[in-house]
Amino acid sequence: MNNESKKPREKLLELKNPSQINTEDLIAIILGHGSKEKNVFDLSKELVEYIRTNLNNSITIEELSKFSGIGTSRALQIISALELGRRFKWTQEKIRVHKIGQGEIIQGDCLDVMKTIPDDSIILAFTSPPYHNAINYEEHIKKLEGKIKYWERKEVSYDFYRTFLIDRFKELYRIIKPGGHNVVNISPVGWNGIRVPLPFHFAVWMEEIGWQFKEDIIWEKEIAKDKRSGVLMQHPYPGYYYPSLVAEYVLVFQKPAGKKEQNNIYHFRSPKEKQSNKLDMGDY
Ligand SMILES: C[S@@+](CC[C@H](N)C(=O)[O-])C[C@H]1O[C@@H](n2cnc3c(N)ncnc32)[C@H](O)[C@@H]1O
Repeated sequence: MNNESKKPREKLLELKNPSQINTEDLIAIILGHGSKEKNVFDLSKELVEYIRTNLNNSITIEELSKFSGIGTSRALQIISALELGRRFKWTQEKIRVHKIGQGEIIQGDCLDVMKTIPDDSIILAFTSPPYHNAINYEEHIKKLEGKIKYWERKEVSYDFYRTFLIDRFKELYRIIKPGGHNVVNISPVGWNGIRVPLPFHFAVWMEEIGWQFKEDIIWEKEIAKDKRSGVLMQHPYPGYYYPSLVAEYVLVFQKPAGKKEQNNIYHFRSPKEKQSNKLDMGDY
């Protein structure tokens, strides 16, 4: 029997490589069988035709259900398969994974990366988000690579920046385990000539997402003191004094969890797990 006359499932089992199976057969594998009116091959052909011509529009359950033999559950199967394909293709283009020892570094926009991570799966996030208007990171990298001499500041509205952060910390909230922590290094920033109290705004944005505020740690920057006394030297009058920037904030938030919740990271830990994570108190 040649491959043409074989059933789609048998073809895939034998060839083991889905890229060698035609699209109608792949749909037929998802469907499993046809309907009273139509065999699975004809139904698959019609569906492939419909999907091809509507790839740029949204393919909805309602539209798929108009095909005889396609009910809600089959429409959901097809939509899920299409979304999986789209998601992984897009992920492959935008994300790089570098294996390091037993772990991995995933390189990409953190929003794209987090979308590939399941709910409630991370214990700790520690981040220093970009100061969007302070550094133009795309050009900054080019300067470091010696491709350009100077980088230009990129004007970004505070509202855009707020949405940028909220989108990402909302996604982080989804993937952090209940009881897990989100530690953020953040500081006031200069914005159009004004010093904006970013950490204080940020704490409110985080609370609106659902994060529980836990700690405000002051990072004293011994070697990175940003002296602002030059203005006073030039204008030695009251009103020209600006304190040197010697510290940044490190804000700690937690994803709330009920004590009895099974997935709360601080409960239901086995004695073995607890023991293997015992801290060396000599460090304190
Ligand atoms: C304030 S710096 C923190 C630098 C970091 N502490 C370090 O030592 O490399 C912000 C960093 O976020 C990166 N970044 C900016 N936008 C990002 C995004 N959407 N996803 C992931 N990283 C991003 C920038 O390239 C930059 O390295």
